[in-house]
Amino acid sequence: MKKLFLVTLTLICALSFTACDNKKEKKVNLETPYMILVNKQNKLPGDWESRIELVDTKNVWDEDIKIEKKTFKKYKELKAALEKEGIYIELDSVYRSVAEQQKIWDDWTVEKGLEYVQKYVAVPGTSEHHTGLAVDICIRKDGELVYENEDMMAEKEIFNKIHKRLAEFGFILRYPEGKEDITGYGAEVWHFRYINSPEIAKEIMDKGLTFEEWYAANK
Ligand code: DAL
Ligand code: ZN
Repeated sequence: MKKLFLVTLTLICALSFTACDNKKEKKVNLETPYMILVNKQNKLPGDWESRIELVDTKNVWDEDIKIEKKTFKKYKELKAALEKEGIYIELDSVYRSVAEQQKIWDDWTVEKGLEYVQKYVAVPGTSEHHTGLAVDICIRKDGELVYENEDMMAEKEIFNKIHKRLAEFGFILRYPEGKEDITGYGAEVWHFRYINSPEIAKEIMDKGLTFEEWYAANK
């Protein structure tokens, strides 16, 4: 009887150590710049630009833009992979300074009104675009550029196919439909965020999580 008790005790201890180890393995490093959470509640840190490397490129409008180095590399891989499926994506807006975000806020307020702007545009200083890790795309369909927000929202089939490939390259869909209360923004099928971990990106995309939800569960 005593022997059975000891065997059971040893088994319980071994199992709890294994559970502990699994938990430890799951712990992810949230300190890397790629894991930064920027939203209405979390402003961009003041020293952000010293933490990342921005590179220069052009967007679809032939404008000079900046983007975080690895985000750009992975974006190009994503674009090439999608082209093999007959899907054509282009860079629109990527890194934005606070002044650039302010200009978007002001211009769009005139064009679309304050209610729309509050739903779709971040207050300068709180935009994920300041990180250089957020990518707004537009698409080419039958050779024509589709770039207006409403037109892109209507292209569900193409965007679903694009979203299916994001995690493989370390990107997530940042503002999913039905999660507006959590992200604080209307759904944006075109806004992707690079997090430098295909595994975590896959978990987020497979479970249909927001970055906020994943973050809360892993901090
Ligand atoms: N459209 C997103 C919310 C931004 O302005 O950063
Ligand atoms: Zn965006």
